[in-house]
Amino acid sequence: MGDPKIGVFICRCGTNIAATVDVEALAAFAKTLPGVGYVDVGKWICSVDYLAKLSQAVGAEKLDRVVVACCTPRTHEPTFRSTVREAGLNPYLLEFVSIREQVSWVHRSDRAAALAKAKDLVRMGVAKAMLLEPAEEVRIPVGRSSLVIGGGPAGMSAALALALQGFEVFLVERSAELGGLLNRLHGAGHGEKEPAVIAREMAAKVMSARGIEVIAPAEVTGLKGYVGNYEAELSNGRKIGVSTIIVATGMAEIDAGGLFGAKPGPRVVTQLGLEGMLKDGFPAGIRSVVILNCAGSRNAERGCCHVGCAASLRNAEAVLAANPSAKVTVLYRDLTVVGNESMLRGAAAGKGVRFVRYSSDAPPAVRERGELLEVSVRDLQLGEEVVLDADLVVLTVGFTGDRSVERLKGLLKVSADSEGFFKEAHIKLRPLDFPADGVYLAGCARSPRGIRESIEDGAGAAMRASIPMRRGYVEAEGTVAVIDLESCSGCMLCAKGCPYGAIEMKDEKPSVISALCKGCGTCAAGCPKDAVQIIHYTDAQIMAQVEAALLEDPAAKIVAFCCHWCAMGAVDIAGVGRLEYPPNVRIIRVMCSARVDEDHVMKALDMGAAGVLVMGCEFPTCHYIAGNADCRKRMEKLSRKLEKKGVDTGRLATAWLSAAQGRKFAKTVREFAEKLGLSR
Ligand code: FES
Repeated sequence: MGDPKIGVFICRCGTNIAATVDVEALAAFAKTLPGVGYVDVGKWICSVDYLAKLSQAVGAEKLDRVVVACCTPRTHEPTFRSTVREAGLNPYLLEFVSIREQVSWVHRSDRAAALAKAKDLVRMGVAKAMLLEPAEEVRIPVGRSSLVIGGGPAGMSAALALALQGFEVFLVERSAELGGLLNRLHGAGHGEKEPAVIAREMAAKVMSARGIEVIAPAEVTGLKGYVGNYEAELSNGRKIGVSTIIVATGMAEIDAGGLFGAKPGPRVVTQLGLEGMLKDGFPAGIRSVVILNCAGSRNAERGCCHVGCAASLRNAEAVLAANPSAKVTVLYRDLTVVGNESMLRGAAAGKGVRFVRYSSDAPPAVRERGELLEVSVRDLQLGEEVVLDADLVVLTVGFTGDRSVERLKGLLKVSADSEGFFKEAHIKLRPLDFPADGVYLAGCARSPRGIRESIEDGAGAAMRASIPMRRGYVEAEGTVAVIDLESCSGCMLCAKGCPYGAIEMKDEKPSVISALCKGCGTCAAGCPKDAVQIIHYTDAQIMAQVEAALLEDPAAKIVAFCCHWCAMGAVDIAGVGRLEYPPNVRIIRVMCSARVDEDHVMKALDMGAAGVLVMGCEFPTCHYIAGNADCRKRMEKLSRKLEKKGVDTGRLATAWLSAAQGRKFAKTVREFAEKLGLSR
């Protein structure tokens, strides 16, 4: 087979591109590039008419590769991929060059530099296209059964919502009884339903629902597989096969030992302890209660627990309801009650609860004084020290994830934060999903939340899980890892580093489970033998782009490796905002910054690039769990190597951006160019 024949399609985008970039000159240049056999310029190449023309040109001109030079792949790549597919080519034989967001919109004041940059970008696109290979999107069948882990309000709500849609649900609960924390709460107050009643009603619905099997008491002890094909092992020895999983494991109070100097015991309890006392009948002998909010929360280790203030107000009232002559004081830093602060505080104060505000600099101190406890605190509003006697001290402590989190995160190959709560795929875009397909999370497994929120979360997670189950399949991207077993030494670093557990050992050699692989490139960049490649982002393709970018005047150029998600998002936002920045930068897109190999950077530096910028998502979010952290570590290591070699480490920089930070992107490029002494 000879060299591929490449077609280059250049867009004027009305005047969006053509007003700044001389597209005719660009087309003439494209015709001179090796492998290019056809070039055309269109007014709007994403229009239906032009797409038909493009498709027809692929057939008529017998093109094997397509390069489009137009807007941004982040919005238009799927459109061009389907056109290429309809034209009979594999959709992965398309390369996208962004000459609007990266050129015409951001270099309007320098037409010559804009044309020079557009030429480089097209040359880079063509160089990569020469090496493109077809890829297959894997379709994985997904059945109609789901495993819900945790029988609290979120888990029960998820199970009910799934069953209502006709899916089969296995609800696994650790204790013998459904309800979770609801069973330990005393009362909701203010006309809301009692937690125990909610638990009873939901449990009754779950038990009688068609399609839900409750397995309790039991725990998940083993798990293998992937979306559509999970097998869970339970502590009772049973094995169940399911297509999706919802994790609703709830939360637990943190250890209250020593907080504010108080020793937990019969006279020092947590809010859950107080709930228990209220449920069992509050002792009439307790006449003074001091509630201490923000115990062990809102400090360097832990944020706001979100539910403590409301619980303290409700329970203060409940104590008074049980014993109207009791003295109840709430010591608080700020009252954070979602939605109902005035009602709750007003009601509590109206019923005789005393409030004392304290500062985090002068926290309350609890001391034993004979039969009594003594709480001293500096009242922030009065500006004086207050000493309170207490029969009972109640600590409103923060929360941590359930104790099963440690075990489950290993089984599910997901991560949890330092407070023991599971981490969602993306806090704004996919709050109920784990990064791995087919696994979802709900309720207090994510972070502390109230009853209503937990129930809503459960229903939300059920809706997410129902999407692939209803469709009957998921389509895994063609951008996946492939391993050349001839070069592989079997060190298994790829499998250890894979955030998705997508590389398994087969006959003592690594093997990629394509259905699980997301193509982040962590494995490829970390392979000491370069035996792992990512389809569409191979070393050869990236190196070819670097070479093409630096073919002329390398000392005036910055090569920037940008992740597709946030870094490229910021690039596009800079474009939309028409933010001018130095035209010296040549962007190479990778799916995640984790794909950037030391060799890629070294190639650019060795070829004489003024500098290299590596850009990924701002911490802690990376669309591939922790690819940015992996990249940062690799670049720090490379920087140390450069220093040892006597190379100016200032030529390598990293930046971590959110997709909205167009300004930060432009500023980073401007400052880096200035630092490198580039004239423009
Ligand atoms: Fe942006 Fe990983 S996706 S750094």
